[in-house]
Amino acid sequence: MTALLEIKDLHVHFPIKNGTFQKKTGEVKALNGVDLAVNKGEVLGIVGESGCGKSTLARSIVGLQKPTSGDILFNGEAYTDASAKEIYELRRNMQMVFQDPYTSLNPRMKVSESIAAPLKAYKQTKNLETRVKELMELVGLNPDMHYNRLPHEFSGGQRQRIGIARAIALEPKLIVCDEPVSALDVSVQAQVINLFQDLQKKLNLTYVFIAHDLSVINHIADRVAVMYLGKVMEKSNRETFQAHAQHPYTNALLSAVPLPDPDKERTRERIVLKGELPSPANPPSGCVFHTRCPKATEFCKTNIPVPEERGVPGQEVACFYPVGEEEKVKITL
Ligand SMILES: Nc1ncnc2c1ncn2[C@@H]1O[C@H](COP(=O)(O)OP(=O)(O)OP(=O)(O)O)[C@@H](O)[C@H]1O
Ligand SMILES: [Mg+2]
Repeated sequence: MTALLEIKDLHVHFPIKNGTFQKKTGEVKALNGVDLAVNKGEVLGIVGESGCGKSTLARSIVGLQKPTSGDILFNGEAYTDASAKEIYELRRNMQMVFQDPYTSLNPRMKVSESIAAPLKAYKQTKNLETRVKELMELVGLNPDMHYNRLPHEFSGGQRQRIGIARAIALEPKLIVCDEPVSALDVSVQAQVINLFQDLQKKLNLTYVFIAHDLSVINHIADRVAVMYLGKVMEKSNRETFQAHAQHPYTNALLSAVPLPDPDKERTRERIVLKGELPSPANPPSGCVFHTRCPKATEFCKTNIPVPEERGVPGQEVACFYPVGEEEKVKITL
């Protein structure tokens, strides 16, 4: 089966320029060799701390960021070097939902106009008002009450619903969601996540879903990729992600998830990573995680691990010394 989306050895490097003549003095390696695949109807969750390259990956997928090297394929066809016209065609099938719905909406545009904008851009203007109202209903907005309102009259959750209506307007196959619930209150987060799940079923959607909250990812994702400094450290199925995490970085992330029970939270053991997060302008040699890894040896300083299956079916880990059963953090997300 061909994956709907395939990412092969993707690199995105941003030049660092200095001085009067803006001479290139280095580069930020935002993505440094990423391989991923997403099947039709699947939700691929992406986690990792700030600056690891999640948004750069999202922007590259939807054609907003040109890769330095590597390939991205949609339905088996590479579009890494696509022209602006080809990207325009592709975007019909591939949309993005952003973290901050307020900045991605024009404050002077009525909700109905915002939702109609992608339809107009793709000349799908037949029965426009009916279609916009239908989209509003699909995302849980009331067309009678909300049609002529401006974005500032809405709550954060409602604004994200407008963003989602825009994203589904052209009936895309894939939606890349970049931290779509991170800016919302916890209670509203759950409603918006439920909406994403409902729409996925109704409209047969595939998602790449970025979040830094592991419980959100565990709730929505079928598969999870953990990123660190522009690389994928571990890929798992939802079932194996928390119970059989093998990468020391995933284990540390799981140990830092806040627990709702205050007694458990006080007494739990946290894996505190040593040192600072290195700069993606100067990533460590060998395994990029070796400077902070509790299990790293001399070997990890000079050898680069590639993601491979190590005992857990369907799970790939880029590590020479995967976490053993007795070292694993036991939590329920
Ligand atoms: N346009 C750009 N020019 C230069 N550097 C950039 C650019 N965009 C991103 N970067 C750098 O690339 C790295 C990855 O950034 P990115 O925004 O993809 O991370 P992220 O995982 O989305 O972080 P966050 O969780 O904070 O959203 C960071 O070091 C960032 O500073
Ligand atoms: Mg980001």
